[in-house]
Amino acid sequence: MISTSLTILAIESSCDETAAAVIQEGKIISNVVSSQPIHHTYGGVVPELAARAHQANIVPVVTEALAAAAINKTALHAIGFTQGPGLLGALLIGNCFAKALAFSLDIPLIAVHHMRAHILANFIDPPVPSFPFVCLTVSGGHTQLVWVKDYLTMEVLGETQDDAVGEAFDKIAKLMGMGYPGGHLIDHYAKKGNPHAFVFPITHMPQLNFSFSGIKTAFALFIQKKSAAFVETHLADICASIQAALVRMLLDKLVEAVQQTNTGVVALAGGVAANSYLQQQLKILASQYNWEIFIPATPYCTDNAAMVAITAYHQYQIRSFAPLSTPSLPRMPF
Ligand code: KG4
Ligand code: ZN
Repeated sequence: MISTSLTILAIESSCDETAAAVIQEGKIISNVVSSQPIHHTYGGVVPELAARAHQANIVPVVTEALAAAAINKTALHAIGFTQGPGLLGALLIGNCFAKALAFSLDIPLIAVHHMRAHILANFIDPPVPSFPFVCLTVSGGHTQLVWVKDYLTMEVLGETQDDAVGEAFDKIAKLMGMGYPGGHLIDHYAKKGNPHAFVFPITHMPQLNFSFSGIKTAFALFIQKKSAAFVETHLADICASIQAALVRMLLDKLVEAVQQTNTGVVALAGGVAANSYLQQQLKILASQYNWEIFIPATPYCTDNAAMVAITAYHQYQIRSFAPLSTPSLPRMPF
């Protein structure tokens, strides 16, 4: 007999993480993420290899998520999945699997927007933000300022016009010969460095937009002129200085967004939200401007299915179900 507690399985496969989570009555009861180390060899995500790895991982990951939740698939009321944005081949694996499961169990399918899910990661554990609030969403593929009016009503106030900040972190790490993805390594080395040791040019874009291509090029030119020995000796200072410049660009625009929207509630989301310097600087701003701030726990900042599950749970409340013909959308409008 199907349990009366609303139980949803969610699947995430937009990039290089195969993930599944189970949510019951709005509480995450299991959350499994399988990363794909194969991309480390190539210094970036290889789309076809990502799709192949999702294909190999999806059944074990879903099986583990159901086992960890101690439920049988027949107890599920709906299947949520990431519709986009992301890599097409990677998205297709999650999409087809979710549809097949929903079809065989004869339960609704829920198509979730990956960036909206990153924002709703702020609602997985208490304390949670009150509406409306401004969210700075910073990942490997996106950098956005979003005005969040409700769980499902959001408006992009501004965004990057070229690279995402996570992409800039990763390219900069690569230029210093670090592994992929390098964002967390810059964060790690920067902890012992001086953020004022080197000066990198900051780009101020009109309105609430961002641009990270200029600072990336400036960093490439800086590194070209330095010897490997210099970079090694000054690694902590270089990491701290470039990280401080990137974080400053993010937070300058966040301050503008908060002033324009006249809110006092601010959240972070996405993989770069795990950055310790960004979090520390946000806390300083929060006490200066009297903001209430929210940052998801690190496993909910980087790609995961718990964030897809909480979004699917809220979509279920308004019966926002998707037909079994729903396509994957590599570029999915907000
Ligand atoms: O949200 P996410 O897992 O995937 C996308 O949707 O893109 O974000 C991945 C990005 C990568 O660029 C990674 O380097 C960055 O998040 N990242 C960090 C940190 N942890 C992950 N960047 C800076 N500092 C960190 N601690
Ligand atoms: Zn993501």
